[in-house]
Amino acid sequence: MLSAFLKKKKKDLFLYAMRLHDDQLEDISARFQAEMKKGLSAESNAAAAVKMLPTHVRSTPDGSERGQFLALDLGGSKFKVLQVKVREGMGIRKGGVEMEEKIYPIPKELLIGRGTELFDHVSESLKDFLQEKNINLEKTHPLAFTFSFPCEQPTLNQGLLLSWSKNFRLRGLQGKDVVQSLKGAIERTGGMNVDVLSMVNDTVATMMTCGFDDQRCEVGLIIGTGTNACYMEALRHVDLVEGDEGQMCVNTEWGGFGDDGALNEYITEFDRDVDAASNNPGKQIFEKMVSGMYLGELVRLVVLKMAKVGLLFDGFVSDALRTKGKITTANVAAMEEYKTGLKNTRDILTGLGLTPSQDDCIAVQHVSTIVSFRSSNLVAACLSAILTRIKKNRSLRTLTITVGVDGTVYKTHPQYPKRLHKVVRRLLPESHVRFVLSDSGSSKGAALVAAVAQRLASRRKQVDETLFPFQMSQEQLHLVKSRMRADLEAGLKNKNPSTIKMLPSFVYHTPDGTERGKYLALDLGGTNFRALLVNFKKGLHQNTRLYHKIYTVPMEIMQGTGEELFDHLAQCVSDFLDYMGMKNAHLPAGFTFSFPCEQTAIDTGTLLTWTKGFKATDCEGHDVVNMLREAIKRRNEFDLDIAAVVNDTVGTMMSCAYEDPECEVGLIAGTGTNVCYMEDVRNIEKRDADAQRMCINTEWGGLGDDGSLNDIITPYDAEVDQNSLHPGKQRFEKLTSGMYLGEIVRQVLLDLTRGGLLFRGHVTEALKTPGIFETKYLSQIESDRLALLQVRSILQQLGLDSNCDDSIIVKEVCGAVSRRAAQLVGAGIAAVVDKIRENRGLEHLNITVGVDGALYKLHPHFSRVLHDTAKVLAPLCNVSFLPSEEGSGKGAALITAVMETKN
Ligand code: BG6
Ligand code: BG6
Ligand code: GLC
Ligand code: GLC
Repeated sequence: MLSAFLKKKKKDLFLYAMRLHDDQLEDISARFQAEMKKGLSAESNAAAAVKMLPTHVRSTPDGSERGQFLALDLGGSKFKVLQVKVREGMGIRKGGVEMEEKIYPIPKELLIGRGTELFDHVSESLKDFLQEKNINLEKTHPLAFTFSFPCEQPTLNQGLLLSWSKNFRLRGLQGKDVVQSLKGAIERTGGMNVDVLSMVNDTVATMMTCGFDDQRCEVGLIIGTGTNACYMEALRHVDLVEGDEGQMCVNTEWGGFGDDGALNEYITEFDRDVDAASNNPGKQIFEKMVSGMYLGELVRLVVLKMAKVGLLFDGFVSDALRTKGKITTANVAAMEEYKTGLKNTRDILTGLGLTPSQDDCIAVQHVSTIVSFRSSNLVAACLSAILTRIKKNRSLRTLTITVGVDGTVYKTHPQYPKRLHKVVRRLLPESHVRFVLSDSGSSKGAALVAAVAQRLASRRKQVDETLFPFQMSQEQLHLVKSRMRADLEAGLKNKNPSTIKMLPSFVYHTPDGTERGKYLALDLGGTNFRALLVNFKKGLHQNTRLYHKIYTVPMEIMQGTGEELFDHLAQCVSDFLDYMGMKNAHLPAGFTFSFPCEQTAIDTGTLLTWTKGFKATDCEGHDVVNMLREAIKRRNEFDLDIAAVVNDTVGTMMSCAYEDPECEVGLIAGTGTNVCYMEDVRNIEKRDADAQRMCINTEWGGLGDDGSLNDIITPYDAEVDQNSLHPGKQRFEKLTSGMYLGEIVRQVLLDLTRGGLLFRGHVTEALKTPGIFETKYLSQIESDRLALLQVRSILQQLGLDSNCDDSIIVKEVCGAVSRRAAQLVGAGIAAVVDKIRENRGLEHLNITVGVDGALYKLHPHFSRVLHDTAKVLAPLCNVSFLPSEEGSGKGAALITAVMETKN
């Protein structure tokens, strides 16, 4: 007989490897941190033992969730069907949740049978529940699904099963979408209408359940049949999901920790035996050291071994003790009961056909304690790894956080929670960790996730509906092209003074390279007023020297009196001449004036009507060259010889034609939009020369002023038109140019906000401010290189306090509006180039369009969409686009040079 002392020593030796000291726990914690990193990284995820699965749950509850949901809870020790009603409250804790549930036992053979049979059982139980609770079978019911196995989720309502764990091992489902399988089963059962909105892991559902009452709950923990944890990770670390702002819940699937050998030093022979005899050998190593499905078995194997070597029951081993599953986790809990533990141990051992002595009972109780203590220690180590990670992510010195917990081990083992809490607090002395038991199970949380999903889906639908009218079909674009063509023709015949004016420019040739000398150019009508000095040397494409200065035109001048406006221009010119030291030079000048002017010669132009942001009095009906001359005279400081007045389109065409002789079209896509092109003189009624061609300033911005575009004009466009300086005018321009696109976007955002779909329904002063969305902001917001966080910061600059979802929607609205604009301009260009081709009786036309304007040059997608549309709508033309490098002023100077050379 061994002495009592030796026996005790030997018993301790057996259990030594299961006792974990704090430095070992810290080592395990560090290893788990490394595993988490591996799982999060896109490169190492495939080989990672800890899968770190993105869940698409981006926030914990905020109290605004509401709705009535069916719920299924599959994968814990009990399969349940539920009905959950969530009443909205203003903020956390104010809402309420009502639940009804029924547990449906799953026959053992179904757990290891075919997947479809299990799901048939699930869906038949669902139908039984609906009937029993008298729930309307006709109506469509949204459903929240808790499925407690590792699933890869491309979206919230898809889940590809990676592997079975715990006591489930079904055929035919691995790698498949379990939501589809569930839907298939529901269809097979028939007679009910169910919409599966979301699928979540039990850890996630637990975090959400507890998060409903405690906003700090950002970790979900299960210590039940299996074990697992989830937590809110910074999205920028979740490589597998696009986006870098905000958070996403990650289901760690920590049960797999150790599957790659990371825990080998801590694994005992008993763990190896449990693993070997399990459903899934080699898998879920950590889970098998920790969770309810295995704790009883670990105790049995230790006790069996001790009995076999004579340390217990005088070496007697009963059949029951040799049988798998005969000691359960419930037994372990009972043996560790505070007062009755020892008696319970005796009863349990006796029940196994043993005759234990008092010492045997104490020893077995001790085994049980060591096994369950190891479990809580291991959980504490990994949990502290998660909490340390969250703390680091947020750069916090102290972390205050709540962990939502569920699972039978945690709920029923008398010592487990206390031990766990104590060790976590010891490992993380500087953090405040609260543990909350999810006493209502996971379905409340699952329903909250479904409620958010439902709200997002309905928001998506409404946003899509709002933006639908901005989508142009090919048919509509063809129609726009043919309306443009018809109005170009009518304008030439002087038949439609109300829409496209087709103004002769008295420019008969593009440059030929003989232009020489120094010229002044003045440029009014884009974003700014510009004064330039251009020096043409040598031949075409050669050495043009250019000096310029930009002046802003204040709004009060744009909309003041004509005299004030032209005095301001004269003052800017005076400043420029001073700057150049050329006050006395008496230079010939060209004047780019970017508004519709009726010309009878190259150096006269009667303003027909103001457009864009100008509305100075006493100008319409007057010759703008005269007005500028008068202003210069009034100033009596310098002299200018204004030899030509040209539209910016014409200036742009000329400037680009200096580089490329095929350039016979000038396009502006900037503050306003317009096109000019070389028309055959025989088609022009108002002509005064024998030349073959003349450049026509179309003023195409007026298309639609007679109502011809009404079928594509949305209520938002109508609002923008009504609030504009020139209501009813320039309808095409108002759909396509920089001055208006931001306003259209603002009108859509206002509408979406009023409908509660944006900015939490908050219509702010900023949003009510006309003009806040300048073209440059649209361009920035739509840039693909900008992360959402940057979009948000632009919106913040504009006084719009957006969250991540808002930023996505704002970007979409901008995209819809600018895309339509580019397509419409593309359709217009197609009409123009096709007309030129037909004029010349060509099967095929090669032509270059010279382009200027901030929208074309700065917007990230506008030019591409415009090119693509023109290509599709004018398949017989090969159109190249040449951005003007030095603005239209150079073109005006070229025209002046031609005039001067002629004189
Ligand atoms: C329940 C949850 O309360 O706990 C389930 O509703 C979860 O979703 C389960 O799977 C985990 O514990 P156990 O012990 O049943 O596996
Ligand atoms: C400039 C031209 O480059 O582009 C102007 O010189 C023209 O004449 C302008 O009006 C158009 O662009 P925006 O974006 O300033 O309206
Ligand atoms: C298993 C499952 C996991 C689940 C856990 C608790 O580990 O793989 O998804 O969360 O059990 O039920
Ligand atoms: C407006 C003007 C037009 C000009 C265009 C681009 O449409 O009416 O003349 O070309 O804006 O600036």
